[in-house]
Amino acid sequence: MEKINVDYKKLYYGFPVILISFYDKDGNPNVTTLSSSYTLMDMVILGFGSNGYAVNQIKEVKDFVINVPDKSIMKEIDLCGAKSGHEYKKFDMVNLTPVKSKIINAPIIEECSIAIECTLTDVIERDYYRGITNIIAKIKGRCISKEYIDASGQLKYSEVDNVLYVGDDKNKVYRYTQSGISDDAKSFL
Ligand SMILES: Cc1cc2nc3c(=O)[nH]c(=O)nc-3n(C[C@H](O)[C@H](O)[C@H](O)COP(=O)(O)O)c2cc1C
Repeated sequence: MEKINVDYKKLYYGFPVILISFYDKDGNPNVTTLSSSYTLMDMVILGFGSNGYAVNQIKEVKDFVINVPDKSIMKEIDLCGAKSGHEYKKFDMVNLTPVKSKIINAPIIEECSIAIECTLTDVIERDYYRGITNIIAKIKGRCISKEYIDASGQLKYSEVDNVLYVGDDKNKVYRYTQSGISDDAKSFL
């Protein structure tokens, strides 16, 4: 493949959209849209702009939930990623239902099929990445809606139907997966 050097300031090569929900310091549920995440074992890292409401509340309250939405709630995804909790209680503006987690002090979003319950352990802010706050969190629990679990208790892998965020410094788009289309890992060996 012949390649061209580009001078994009950003290149999002397809990150799953997630909704981060939490109770703020006053106990009000709030939520923000995120795409910057990765997880290994019982650890997850999220990347935020340092001035956002969610990250600054989570730095204090510690507990939050990563909710994985599908394309049935695109308006909610867009809105929670456009308005700030500095000004709005976003659960009052969208059709999302916060339900308290049984194991941490944070709300799970009823309308999302996967929820990962987390507690913050580390905050990473560096002068040479000014404006970015990365947080590391411990995964305390995982909840999956029954439709996503097969008779043997495993995830129905090919049904996971999350939304990907793809783009560059000019524009970003949502990309959708097609349920039922998957191949087993190592099946090409
Ligand atoms: C699809 C999508 C993905 C986003 N990903 C991120 C992200 O990874 N990190 C971030 O800081 N903001 C991200 N944003 C922007 C925030 O959601 C937005 O700035 C929001 O208003 C912050 O809300 P808050 O101040 O209540 O935290 C994303 C927005 C959208 C729509």
